[in-house]
Amino acid sequence: MRTLEDLDVEGKRVLVRVDFNVPLDEDGTITDDARIQGALPTLKELREKDARLVLMSHLGRPKGTDPKFSLTPAAQRLSELLGTEVTLADDLDSVPDGDVVMLENVRFNDGETKNDEELAKRYAALADVYVNDAFGSAHRAHASTEAVAHLLPSAAGRLLEREVATLRGILDEPKRPLVAVVGGAKVTDKIGVLDAFLDRADEILIGGAMCFPFFKAQGHEVGDSLCEEEGVEPAGRVLRAGVDKVHLPVDLVAGREFDADTPTQAIDGVDVPEGWMGLDIGPSTAERYADIIKDAETVFWNGPMGAFELPPFAEGTRVVAEAVAVTAATTVVGGGDSAAALKQFGYADMVDHVSTGGGASLELVEGKPLPGVEALS
Ligand code: 3PG
Ligand code: MG
Repeated sequence: MRTLEDLDVEGKRVLVRVDFNVPLDEDGTITDDARIQGALPTLKELREKDARLVLMSHLGRPKGTDPKFSLTPAAQRLSELLGTEVTLADDLDSVPDGDVVMLENVRFNDGETKNDEELAKRYAALADVYVNDAFGSAHRAHASTEAVAHLLPSAAGRLLEREVATLRGILDEPKRPLVAVVGGAKVTDKIGVLDAFLDRADEILIGGAMCFPFFKAQGHEVGDSLCEEEGVEPAGRVLRAGVDKVHLPVDLVAGREFDADTPTQAIDGVDVPEGWMGLDIGPSTAERYADIIKDAETVFWNGPMGAFELPPFAEGTRVVAEAVAVTAATTVVGGGDSAAALKQFGYADMVDHVSTGGGASLELVEGKPLPGVEALS
């Protein structure tokens, strides 16, 4: 993959694809600016080389132009962080001159998500060279991430470079033991990741509602727990393939419903009674998982252990997050939910690498080629 070392940017007009698809609250205030912060090293380096920047990003999944999906909040935030004016250009055909200009949401343009060549040509016409620093969008073959990369001299920015090197590093040459902690709601979302780690990891710790298809495959009662039916067969296969390394919870915390005020019950074991749903791993499981993490040299974590956004069901995720935070091992966290959990518990600065990519980090770990990366290779 070509990097900034391979690209002459001195004094040039540089088109930079960033991923400023940041979470916003109802008032349009950014609730987590990690993705904007993540692009700063590249943007500052380019500016030190006297480049003028034309930034582009998507936000959300708008159907055509929709002010709710404007990049105005991101442009304002970036302007504060860079200490310079960031001009937002809402018309691709009359983009003003400026040191830092940001195009409006690329998904307002017809053809963006279809990787349209004609649209890519309009982007390319705005600059001399192209830099892609949007790791979070690297799994998308869109006009601003893929087609345009072939039309200008192009290279990866520092964030994209670091994300790819870090994630590939833990797959290709991890210090062992390598422990993968995989949680979240759906096992079918994570099956590729589980397969990748069945081949590579020394231990795989499973949590979140995705453990219920595993329990069902083992013949346990899951009660009213979220249990993805299509997940039962693949979960059974993972269990058979990973007998020596796949760990499942041994106790649970259950609630009547998905609500912070619901009655709760500690379950010693993993059979969930009718009328109850498992919403967190139990304390014995959390302690076991923390012990295994303590002995690791490399930890990859993706997906929460339970409904951590509800206080009665946050403890399992907190204990695992703490173990990941305090260990001296190399720690890599992928995916928006795990990153949000780290932040909620105050551990965000205590891991080595928090990926800015959700889907992109999973696809990279699964070994799928990322179109945004391939286009720079
Ligand atoms: C993300 O947040 O996953 C990336 O920004 C990609 O967004 P998308 O899933 O809408 O393509
Ligand atoms: Mg996504």
